[in-house]
Amino acid sequence: MMQRLHPQATNKPARGSLLGIEHMEAKDILGLLKLARRMNPLKSRPLLRNKRVVLLFYEASTRTRSSFELAAKSLGAITCLVLSSGSSVEKGESLLDTGGTLRAVGADVIVIRHPSAGAPHLIARHLDIPVINAGDGMHEHPSQALLDALTILKHKKSFKGLHATIVGDVYHSRVARSACHLLTKVGVPVTLCGPPEFVPEVASTLAPGLRITRHVEEALRGTDVVLLLRVQKERLAGQKIRVQDYVARYQMTAARLKLARRDAIVMHPGPIIRGLELTSEVADGPQSVIMDEVRNGVPMRMAILARALGKAR
Ligand code: NCD
Repeated sequence: MMQRLHPQATNKPARGSLLGIEHMEAKDILGLLKLARRMNPLKSRPLLRNKRVVLLFYEASTRTRSSFELAAKSLGAITCLVLSSGSSVEKGESLLDTGGTLRAVGADVIVIRHPSAGAPHLIARHLDIPVINAGDGMHEHPSQALLDALTILKHKKSFKGLHATIVGDVYHSRVARSACHLLTKVGVPVTLCGPPEFVPEVASTLAPGLRITRHVEEALRGTDVVLLLRVQKERLAGQKIRVQDYVARYQMTAARLKLARRDAIVMHPGPIIRGLELTSEVADGPQSVIMDEVRNGVPMRMAILARALGKAR
């Protein structure tokens, strides 16, 4: 049958799609984490042999893109990277037409990063293959939340009794949004900390179990997990936040970190901006697990891809 360029929206993303954490159940999250713990990029069976994984990136990426690609290749899949710059997107092709084109060349799954919230959901409703959200605007970044949860589990053994603190630009952060959904679903209460421009009062309604404070000292006391966020200059359009004020009040320094539990871990999705949201002393210090997060991105994304293509055992 001829494939139409504008297939009717099915209204239902294909099974195995990962569009966000908000509508996932805790048991599915825990199942994916369990699967990721069994994944080893250096010793894996070619579960996805002959499967075609297309990486469609409309925004800059280092960690997410490379780890999805290495995850797919570790499982024996064929990968194809399409960047918006240099593709027909620059000639004005619509998102749905690009999706249809990639399906026609044989994509079995599409991993997409897009500056607009909801773009992965839109494309998923028009395609019969799973779609994985690798970050959509200021909305969600589910694979990042999962790899962060995997990192917490590896360092803390279980989620039981933990408390997490997220400091920084929560408002513009898809990482924070997905992390809030995930952590509260698995029973970890979360404190959000930052100035009102970054942590508006309404942020506490995102998920049950969220608390807001403007004082970083208060936010840190007794916490087990400190998740820092980058100040997203590219999304700050028109907002007057004085970087020096932010640094003075919220930058993670070794002195501030002492307020957290002695065995607290420091996380950051990257890219980190040294001297802004954290000092080099903290970034490279003994409590930093920032490189572990990057490392865990590969097995986590192997699990996500295996599940997407029905190969999760
Ligand atoms: C983040 C992103 O792109 O959402 N990075 C990442 O995927 N690891 C966070 C950021 O850009 O600050």
